[in-house]
Amino acid sequence: MKSDNTHSEIRVATWSTLADREPAYALVAGVDLVVIRYDEKVSVLYGRCLHRGALLADGFIDGPNLICGVHNWDYRYDTGTSEYNNNEALALFTSWIDEAEDAVFVNKKEISDWAVTNPQPYQREDYLGLYQDVHGTPEEPFNSRIQELARNGLTKTGHHGPVSAMGVPLTELPRWVDIQILTGQMACRPLADDAPVSTELVIGPRAKKPLHLDIPLFVSDMSFGALSETAKVSLAIGAEMAGTGICSGEGGMLPEEQQANSRYFYELASARFGWSLEKAAV
Ligand code: FES
Repeated sequence: MKSDNTHSEIRVATWSTLADREPAYALVAGVDLVVIRYDEKVSVLYGRCLHRGALLADGFIDGPNLICGVHNWDYRYDTGTSEYNNNEALALFTSWIDEAEDAVFVNKKEISDWAVTNPQPYQREDYLGLYQDVHGTPEEPFNSRIQELARNGLTKTGHHGPVSAMGVPLTELPRWVDIQILTGQMACRPLADDAPVSTELVIGPRAKKPLHLDIPLFVSDMSFGALSETAKVSLAIGAEMAGTGICSGEGGMLPEEQQANSRYFYELASARFGWSLEKAAV
């Protein structure tokens, strides 16, 4: 083997045993290749089908074409270009036969340069080895998820598997522009922008202890645990500064956030998670 910074030969097949028109597999510089002998010539192509990444060394030759064995996409084995759709073309790498060495060679540098602009996602040492399907499609959205579970079990997620807090899809939540209020427009007769207009909201005005909010907004129910201590206390302080309250959520509740906000709401959810009247009286 010759090797320097600009050129490096690497053997990908033994010429005398390379069967005519039978695709063979090779791996160079992290790139899967397919080697095809046809009569006294050879071609070395990128070895993954452009459809779903199947190994083309597992395909077969039909006339002038290399056919992927999975869904029959075709590629000319001498050029790599599909007859069916000329826009689909496998990379064709420089290759040559060295009869003295009884070998087919390629230029490793050329292939590793190609891999820089065409990064390869295959982890050949992992579950399914060469036969991973890393593509996934809308028709098979769970394929990569199932493979990830088969590969790693629950080691990446903890023993409960993937969990997330109950929530509302972001697209259904009010956006920031929805909660901006031009107070001048809240007076019965619209006023100038700088005219003072109260935004106070009183909930239960005839109750023994009405709830007074300076603005008709409060910080919604996300418990400690769903949010960190720092986040919960910061939100409680911010809500107090804005003249409004913050809700406990239905999980953990921190004394620090209760102390930071004078309008603290204690959530009684339908499942009554952790709810007790004693805590409400604190
Ligand atoms: S993966 Fe090759 S044709 Fe579908």
